[in-house]
Amino acid sequence: MNRVDLATLDFFSAEVQECPFQIYRQLQDEAPVWQMPGTNVFVVTRYSDIRDIIRDPARFSSSFGALLNAGASNKEVDAIYGQGYEMVETLLTQDPPRHRVYRNLVNKVFSNKRIEGMRDYIQSITDELIDAWIDDGEVDLMNRLCVPLPIYVIADQLGVPRAELPLIKKWSDASASRLGRLANEEQQIQNAKDIVEFQHYFADLIDRMRESPEDNIISDLANNTIDEGRLLTKPEALGMIQQILVAGNETSTAGIAGGVVLLIENPAEQTKLRSNPDLIPGAVEEILRLETPTSGMWRTATEDTEVGGVPIPKGAFLMVRFAAGNRDESVFSCGHEMKVDRDNASNHLAFGQGTHFCLGAQLARSEMQIALGSLLARTDNWGLVEGKNTLTHNPNVLLRGLKDLYISFDKIS
Ligand code: HEM
Repeated sequence: MNRVDLATLDFFSAEVQECPFQIYRQLQDEAPVWQMPGTNVFVVTRYSDIRDIIRDPARFSSSFGALLNAGASNKEVDAIYGQGYEMVETLLTQDPPRHRVYRNLVNKVFSNKRIEGMRDYIQSITDELIDAWIDDGEVDLMNRLCVPLPIYVIADQLGVPRAELPLIKKWSDASASRLGRLANEEQQIQNAKDIVEFQHYFADLIDRMRESPEDNIISDLANNTIDEGRLLTKPEALGMIQQILVAGNETSTAGIAGGVVLLIENPAEQTKLRSNPDLIPGAVEEILRLETPTSGMWRTATEDTEVGGVPIPKGAFLMVRFAAGNRDESVFSCGHEMKVDRDNASNHLAFGQGTHFCLGAQLARSEMQIALGSLLARTDNWGLVEGKNTLTHNPNVLLRGLKDLYISFDKIS
């Protein structure tokens, strides 16, 4: 294994983020709670440390919204955001007990029971998407399945007409890019324009749903009350919608696309799945473990404390690296290998744990199971189309997802 010099390592650079796995391993061996030189950021890579941190919101707060939204590097970007709504802390960046108030509003919509009841509907969208190219022998799988499936589902839930789906994709990409913090200046300006456009679109929709309520999430958020009877403010509702949108699109897309590539790279595992489709739910957990579409998340220390024997001062930022913990050899033996029947795959940290456990975990699992199950049932002899796949990822420090995916296949008749 090539070791890097930790004294000069720029962990959040695009190069490291593209190929991080050897570095995760080195950090786990040499400095599992590693302070990035010259910063107050500690990168945490061992499974047990990550789990302890995310289960302890009193010591390790999620109030890192300022960190995510800060950093507009020029006045033009600031001015554009000035035309929108200020963001308030709701789900991801809110701590208990206030977090519970917002989480209760959306828990029902994403309950396991409700998602279980959506399986036929998700299957029919998947069938419709695959029908459109099943006779072609080659497909831009990213844009003709991995991207549209989660967008169709979430847009229907939110109550956005299908004709406006390209807008949802654009807004979701802009929000993810802002979170990811690797956008250049031109991109930051475009992100700001897109995010403000998103805010005004949904602010209008909230008004309309208040006038005539419908059966969808926006209508629920627009009309349900909190704090002894008041409606959500627009910034509160917009903050929640934005999180559901970003969290629900980029990540599930990455999970489906990454799963296909893993199965192409591991033909023996693919064969096992084809001969025993009952393994698909477990295989999806293994894919989530290896792909970890949300590679990491922030926490901030509320007091002087320690993690794994390393002192952490109050106010320091911790980057909990789920993607590293998910390959920790002390929990997952041969953690870099894919085993579709691994017995403890579902212990992965891909959806976090505790207070902020992913709201959409069940939905994402269903989408991945149905998409991969349908592809396996209807197509065979998968290959990566030569000359078209970069096999690189969108630059982002929090979310990891392939840029493109073109596959060749045979239709199973
Ligand atoms: C493979 C797909 C997905 C992955 C890997 C994923 C990952 C995660 C992770 C790791 C967290 C916890 C962050 C933390 O501890 O700070 C989280 C939270 C969250 N996720 Fe997901 N997610 C996925 C899909 C979805 C979907 C489909 C939705 C919504 C429809 C969603 C909505 C959310 C929301 C709203 C939160 C914040 C919850 C809270 O703070 O209470 N996610 N997700």
